[in-house]
Amino acid sequence: MLPFGEPRDRGSSVEEPAPVSEGYLGYGRQCIEDDDIEAVVAALRSPHLTQGPRVAAFEAGLRAATGARHALCVTNGTTALQLAYLALGAGPGHTIVTAANTFLGTATAALWTGAEVRFGDIDRNTGNLSLDGLAELCGPDPTRAIVVAVHFAGLPCDMEQLLEWKRQLGFRLVEDAAHALGARYSVGGRMWGVGEHPEIDAACLSFHPVKQVTTGEGGAVLTSRDDVAARLERLRGHGMEGGVVGPFGGEPTPWFRAMLELGFNARMSDVQAALGASQLAKLPRFLEERRALAARYRAALDGYEHLDGGDARREHAWHLYCVRVPDVGRDELIEHLQRAGIGAQVHYVPVPTQPWFRLRYGAQSFPGAEDHGRRTLSLPLWPGLGRRNQERVIDALVSWRQRVAA
Ligand SMILES: Cc1ncc(COP(=O)(O)O)c(C=O)c1O
Repeated sequence: MLPFGEPRDRGSSVEEPAPVSEGYLGYGRQCIEDDDIEAVVAALRSPHLTQGPRVAAFEAGLRAATGARHALCVTNGTTALQLAYLALGAGPGHTIVTAANTFLGTATAALWTGAEVRFGDIDRNTGNLSLDGLAELCGPDPTRAIVVAVHFAGLPCDMEQLLEWKRQLGFRLVEDAAHALGARYSVGGRMWGVGEHPEIDAACLSFHPVKQVTTGEGGAVLTSRDDVAARLERLRGHGMEGGVVGPFGGEPTPWFRAMLELGFNARMSDVQAALGASQLAKLPRFLEERRALAARYRAALDGYEHLDGGDARREHAWHLYCVRVPDVGRDELIEHLQRAGIGAQVHYVPVPTQPWFRLRYGAQSFPGAEDHGRRTLSLPLWPGLGRRNQERVIDALVSWRQRVAA
C-alpha cells in the first residue's frame, strides 16, 4: 500500500494523467508539454545539474521578455523578495509598506530582514494598494521605507502615480510581480514591462506551478540598477566574492573566494532553469490563452462582481480570475464548487488579519481588503483548461446564482 490511496498499477512506472475534463479543476495549474520535458531531460544528461549555463540562458530570456537590464534567478519568489529588500538596505529601523491583500511571503520576507511591515488598504476596483494615505504609511523618514507594489492577479498598480510619490518622498520602490510576468503599464507615455523602468529599484517574480511560467519552485529579481544586481549576486551565493560561480560540472572552479557578507544559498538549479527557459518561450501563447479565458468568464458570469480587467495603459497578465459574490454566501459557494470538482480559492484573506500578524501588530481595520477577502473567489484559469472545462465552471456558478436568487 502506498502511503496515500490505492496500490499503484505495477504494469507501468509512469501514470498517464487523467483527462482534465474528468478531474478536479484547481484554480491554477502548470502547462507542461513534450518539449518542456525534453529540455529537462537534456539538462539531466548534461554535465551541469546546477551552476551550469542554463540559469544564465533563462536569465537572458527573462531580460528579453521584460526589458529589465538584469535578471537574477533564485530558489522561489519569497526568497526573491527577501534578497531584494536586503539588497536595498532593509533592516531594523526600516519599514516595508504593502497591501493587506497579498500573499504572506510579501510580508514575511520583509520581517526576516529585521524591518517592520505597514499594511495599506486596497483600491476596491483592482485589489491593489490604495495610494490614499501612502505618505503616512511610509512614516516620518520615507527614505527608510520600501513600498512594495503587488500587481494583484496580474493587473499592474498605478506605477505612474507611484513613481511620482517616489520622486516626492524618496522611498525605494519594489514590484511584487509574482502574479504579473507579461503585464505592462504606461509611464511617461510609453509601455514598460515589470522591472524595466529605470526608477524601479527591483521587481520580483515567482515560478510556482500556478504562475504564468513555472520551474517547479523558483523566482527571480529584475532590476535596472547595477549596484543592486551586484549585491543580489553576492547574497544568493553565500555572500562570496563573485556570487554564484560556474560551470560546476567537472571543470576547474576557483579554490578560494572571499566571503564578504552574510549570504544565502538561493541558487536555482540548471534542471529548473531548463524548464523555465522552455516555458518562457511560450509566454505569449500562455498569456493569450489566459486572456481569452478571462474574457469568457467576464461575458458569462452575470450577477457576480468583476475586478478591473485593465486597458491599453495597464495590460493584465491574468494570473487569477477573481469574482466577488455580491452578498453573503461565498463560503457556501466554494463548498458547492468543491462538490462539483472545482477548486476555487481565496486570494486573499488579508495578511494583517492572520493570527500571527494580529499578535504582532494588534487588530487593525482594512475595510476594503476585508470586504474583498470575505466575498472573493478565484476561478480555474490556466492554459490547457479548455472550453469544456470552463463551461463546467460557468454552469456551476450560474446555477448557484439562480438557486440563491430563487
Ligand atoms: C503576491 C505574491 N508574492 C510572493 C509570492 C511568493 O512566491 P513563491 O511561492 O515562489 O515563494 C507569491 C506566491 O504565490 C505571491 O502570490
